[in-house]
Amino acid sequence: MSDGKFPENFLWGTATAAHQVEGGNHANDWWAWEQVRGHIKNGDRSDPACQHYERFASDFDLLRSLHQNAHRLSVEWSRIEPAPGEFSATALTHYRDVLQALRDRGMEPMVTLHHFTNPTWISTLGGWESPQTAEYFARFAERVTDELHDLARFWITINEPTVVAYQGYVHGEWPPGKRDFGAALRVVVTLIRAHWLAYERIKRRHPQLQVGLAHHLRIFDPSRWFAPQDRAVAAAFTRVFNETVLRSLREGRLVFPLRRNGKVSGPRQSQDFIGLNYYTRELVKFNHRYRAELFGQRMLVEPALRSDLAWELYPEGLYRTLMELRREQLPIYVTENGIADRDDARRPEFLLTHVRAMLRAIHDGSPVRGYMHWTSFDNFEWAEGYSAKFGLIACDPATQERRVRSSGRLYAEICRSNHVPATVELPPARQTAESGGPTDLR
Ligand code: FCB
Repeated sequence: MSDGKFPENFLWGTATAAHQVEGGNHANDWWAWEQVRGHIKNGDRSDPACQHYERFASDFDLLRSLHQNAHRLSVEWSRIEPAPGEFSATALTHYRDVLQALRDRGMEPMVTLHHFTNPTWISTLGGWESPQTAEYFARFAERVTDELHDLARFWITINEPTVVAYQGYVHGEWPPGKRDFGAALRVVVTLIRAHWLAYERIKRRHPQLQVGLAHHLRIFDPSRWFAPQDRAVAAAFTRVFNETVLRSLREGRLVFPLRRNGKVSGPRQSQDFIGLNYYTRELVKFNHRYRAELFGQRMLVEPALRSDLAWELYPEGLYRTLMELRREQLPIYVTENGIADRDDARRPEFLLTHVRAMLRAIHDGSPVRGYMHWTSFDNFEWAEGYSAKFGLIACDPATQERRVRSSGRLYAEICRSNHVPATVELPPARQTAESGGPTDLR
């Protein structure tokens, strides 16, 4: 620990998602959602984003020059399968070129098959509320891995199933904009089935591939440690949001609170690795008015370091989560971790403290094999549009100019040396009074 050295062959990179960086994705549910006034901050739209669809080669040159040896990206379902069962040779060739470009630069690709967007034809057929979507997704996953298996070893079926369900079906701020807890549970069930089916098909045809899922895990602590009701709601949030999907995948059956959705089952141990997206923690307080959210009101910690989106900087949470995940007995990749910080004032500290927390977890027995910072370039941050700046590299959508931030250079040094400076101290965990509440669960 004291020498700050990471294990050999550790993967260092950044993560992106097709819709957030590519531009020109007009055939999915997000593009349709963006056209409605009020859905996206400042009326922003995902075109042009970073024009990464055209600029991927020079973008990868830049990332490689910053010593990254891996890269997580997603393929866009609506480009590859624009109509049911019709696969686009052009799109598949494009993604071949993208993955080949990574390989040529010595960067290990990690490919996500579903990162929030659905082809319009899927949303027309009911999206994730329709059980049939699991079968459509598995067919897509099979086709893509058949075409590209020789270029990528790591495959992530689905990004953050619980976030898809919460943002789209409880909070209603993302497509399809519903507020219906029962529908959210059904959506999680279909997403789990989609993973099971895809996992089985991919592994049957390409057993050498490493297949996992990216879990968004968040720390939920009771707002008042002494209040049993707060502890109960924090435990319920942890159970539902952090543990349900992991346990279902481990056991090959749906666990509470999904069980009432019929006798659905799948293979046991259907992950070859754990993908972890970690950002922050929230304090939860019992409030009888928050019935739709399991009676938990989520509070902000005051005074704590926060991102531009008011997410608490809580590196200790990464350590706690990585230690918890030891129980899965699988290799772990941090598939996302980052901060919205327009001025790059806090990102360097965020980076150092989180990387250091990760190293501490490795020394304490957590099998972490790689870290993908969210994200390379400022991009289209869903409902926040271009206002939330998560990039190690600034990217102006109007000029498409890329500018490496100080934190980007700091990260380059970590990647180059496979080492984090030993002198950085983790800030003490702050746990104080409350004010207002955050609005989304990501
Ligand atoms: C995660 C998403 C990613 C990005 C970051 C900030 O939940 O997977 O696309 O929006 O949050």
